[in-house]
Amino acid sequence: MITHPLPFSPLPHSCFSLNALPFHLFYACEPIYLFFPYPCSNLICTHFHFHFHLSSFFFSINMPILEFEPSNSSVMASPASTRPQVNARMEKSTVHAEPPGSTNNNNHTSESTDSNENPSIPSQLPFLRESLRPITLKFEDLAYSINLQSGGDHCFNSLESKRTQTVLSGVSGVVRPGELLAMLGPSGSGKTTLLTALGGRLPAKISGSITYNGQPFSSSVTRKIGFVTQDDVLYPHLTVLETLTYAAMLRLPKNLTHEEKIEQAELIITELGLTRCGNSIVGGPLVRGVSGGERKRVSIGQELLVNPSLLLLDEPTSGLDSTTALRLMATVKGLARGGRSVVTTIHQPSSRLYWMFDKVVLLSDGCPIYSGQAGRVMEYLASIGFVPGFSLMNPADFLLDLASGVALCTNPDDHQQYNQGTPDCQEDRDSVKSFLISSYKKTLHPLIKDDIHKNNHDTTRASRGPQSSKSCDNRWTTSWWTQFKVLFKRGLRERRHESYSGLRIFQVMSVAILSGLLWWHSDTSHLQDQVGLLFFFSIFWGFYPLSNAIFTFPQERPMLVRERSSSMYRLSSYYFARMAGDLPMELVLPTIFVTVTYWMGGLKPSLVTFVLTVLIILFNVLVSQGLGLALGAILMDLKQATTLSSVIMLVFLLAGGYYIQQIPPFISWLKYISFSHYCYKLLLEVQYSENEVYYCGTGIHCRVLDFPGIKYLGMGQLWWDVAALGVMLVGYRVLAYVALRMCKSH
Ligand SMILES: Nc1ncnc2c1ncn2[C@@H]1O[C@H](COP(=O)(O)OP(=O)(O)O)[C@@H](O)[C@H]1O
Ligand SMILES: [Mg+2]
Repeated sequence: MITHPLPFSPLPHSCFSLNALPFHLFYACEPIYLFFPYPCSNLICTHFHFHFHLSSFFFSINMPILEFEPSNSSVMASPASTRPQVNARMEKSTVHAEPPGSTNNNNHTSESTDSNENPSIPSQLPFLRESLRPITLKFEDLAYSINLQSGGDHCFNSLESKRTQTVLSGVSGVVRPGELLAMLGPSGSGKTTLLTALGGRLPAKISGSITYNGQPFSSSVTRKIGFVTQDDVLYPHLTVLETLTYAAMLRLPKNLTHEEKIEQAELIITELGLTRCGNSIVGGPLVRGVSGGERKRVSIGQELLVNPSLLLLDEPTSGLDSTTALRLMATVKGLARGGRSVVTTIHQPSSRLYWMFDKVVLLSDGCPIYSGQAGRVMEYLASIGFVPGFSLMNPADFLLDLASGVALCTNPDDHQQYNQGTPDCQEDRDSVKSFLISSYKKTLHPLIKDDIHKNNHDTTRASRGPQSSKSCDNRWTTSWWTQFKVLFKRGLRERRHESYSGLRIFQVMSVAILSGLLWWHSDTSHLQDQVGLLFFFSIFWGFYPLSNAIFTFPQERPMLVRERSSSMYRLSSYYFARMAGDLPMELVLPTIFVTVTYWMGGLKPSLVTFVLTVLIILFNVLVSQGLGLALGAILMDLKQATTLSSVIMLVFLLAGGYYIQQIPPFISWLKYISFSHYCYKLLLEVQYSENEVYYCGTGIHCRVLDFPGIKYLGMGQLWWDVAALGVMLVGYRVLAYVALRMCKSH
């Protein structure tokens, strides 16, 4: 009934002329990525009138909770009759959400009416209707400071002094279901910090109180919050459809079937107007994908999947053109009208955008200078003596000027002077700011306090009602095994370009063929050469997986942090899925490598010896990969991890037993921590039997085990070597897991 496209023409198609783009070769030491351009046709995306679709979609789900009050008369929203009116009057109407406790009473009516009225909502998706439990968010006198390390001006000043910077001070406000609160302020005024605090994601403690339906933050609240960060943290190589489907698999509860979850993701795609680019890759800074606005909608879509009661958005419109920004905010406004509490930070809203806000918090250097109804702000400022330079000025511009301390102090009619912001017409900025802050404290703060404490009794009662009976829910919506399976599949899809990149295969194959040619049909009469080939095996397949693996966690960290803060999965299921996902490629390449080089290099022509050699190399690969993962997880910094790994590998190379046999006793222990040493020994043990001889001079044959390079290694401890590698295999991986777990931000 509402979901037909509205009668205005769509925006022109946006098409990226990727054919003009060169191939991007991005080298980051190891691994090497090759990014191919994608055909333009896949990426053509059309802007849809998604907000109207979406708002009607969510209206139909939650409308009965709300009571709309259009211009003159109060109308109790009935889903069937009110939706069209709401769309038309959305911007002018005022919304009153009923106390949270009353929601359940209406749900029944809404379900029956909706499924009859709106065929676009499949009746088998009751989850969307059930999950919305309105949240009233209240925050009072929030204050937050950070410690800054300052080394002073002098380069050689070693006495670092500790300074603290106040990021937030005395910020208060209330957001009720159905309301859209915007946080405005110049860059650096503390908007993101405040939003992060409201989402319960601030790493340090914040003073003041934040309550959700009268209760402090808890893990059960986490699942009702949708948090869209300013930077879109998405896997660049997944398509839009894949991104949302995997998110649905991880975030929707176990009582929904696989098909229902997919349907849910598809529904969100349709409603967000992403249908045309559903099969295009999301892209990122290094890979071209969908446009910025579409990527932002994907981020929002991920959060909408769980139908959050509290939606927090950090600068959702930054980088978008004003029309797209307006549409995005219309979507958000529709979501708020559906009974959600929405808080958004916004950098430079247009005047049309500004009038969509219900409430505004204006920050200046972390201090509030206004908090309350968006429509009353000009009235308030005029009452304390601040009027805009001209009547048609965008209120947001005026507010941002004031928050930066720029105020008009000459003739308000002198537009030119105001526009130029000439220094002479500005009062001292600090005094303007401090005046605004003190007026806020005197006039507005007591009113907000009253508002916060009003109905406190109700929200507390409501939150103890039937809705909170689920507050002790299991933190995870899906089982360990489901999480593992989804993460495993997602990892394979995301990294398919990387694992099976032609460049990587070329790299390994060229080294394999080159070394095969160098050692072409070597025989035991040149024992030193053969031993060299075996040592090369152990070193190459020690370095290569190590340098690949150190990238794993530092690169995945932003995603891990984001998804873990939304309680999407357990760390253990992620960790095991990642381990398992890496296995195929980690094991296929060395197997091919050894097969080629072994037979070209003329090593022992025995199938058993060959298979054992392959197994030892694979064992070595897993150990070295474990070390790489542990280094990455501990340091979480690519530069540091690469540097340390090269030092470690160099030490292992030198202590491996090939270059030097007579190591001084005080440092000989080094070889015991080198996995290359054990791998090398094992390779020798399976290659040469105890009584094997080699041609060591004119007519003389010597025992291989007496060859100086082998003798000093101390052969005959095969099982000890296997055990040592086994301990390392487990140890490094446990270390990597513990390091990830201890990483503060998740
Ligand atoms: N972890 C941090 N380290 C250093 N400075 C920080 C940190 N967190 C916040 N800040 C500082 O706090 C201020 C507010 O930051 P932010 O909330 O990101 O502002 P906004 O989002 O309004 O641009 C900035 O001056 C910023 O540099
Ligand atoms: Mg910010």
